[in-house]
Amino acid sequence: MKVAFYERIWMWAATAIIVLFLGAIFVTAAAQAVQPPGHIETIDPAAVLSHPEFGTPVVTTRPDGSVVVPVVAGMFSFTPDPIEVPANVRVTFRLTSPDIIHGFQVVGTNANAMAIPGYVTQFSVTFPKPGEYTIACNEYCGLLHHNMVGKLVVK
Ligand code: CUA
Repeated sequence: MKVAFYERIWMWAATAIIVLFLGAIFVTAAAQAVQPPGHIETIDPAAVLSHPEFGTPVVTTRPDGSVVVPVVAGMFSFTPDPIEVPANVRVTFRLTSPDIIHGFQVVGTNANAMAIPGYVTQFSVTFPKPGEYTIACNEYCGLLHHNMVGKLVVK
């Protein structure tokens, strides 16, 4: 089969681009650990509601003044709700789900993570501005996904 010179160049260029893109996916997956934040910590999703931390999640303050907020994101609400945290203090969210994947996005801030059954997702953020923020589930989780909202009060 005779393939024109320029056509061969484009075939090789297209192949190189595909290899580059696939390589980028594998490298970032391996080197940047594409997995839930705090992925080392696992939890039995069936036992979330009787778990000492997540059974009745409450906001606690550490001796250094930082705040820890365990959150259960389940169909179709967040617990606790509302969540009250102080402004200008490091707030560590610890999320999990007893059922399926949910999103946890504090609208208007860069707090945005997934609650994944079987894992505890942990991330820290500081809210400089007091006020009321909407927490939205941004992963489609079922018929009432659009109703899955919570409130964060920063004081
Ligand atoms: Cu939970 Cu959408």
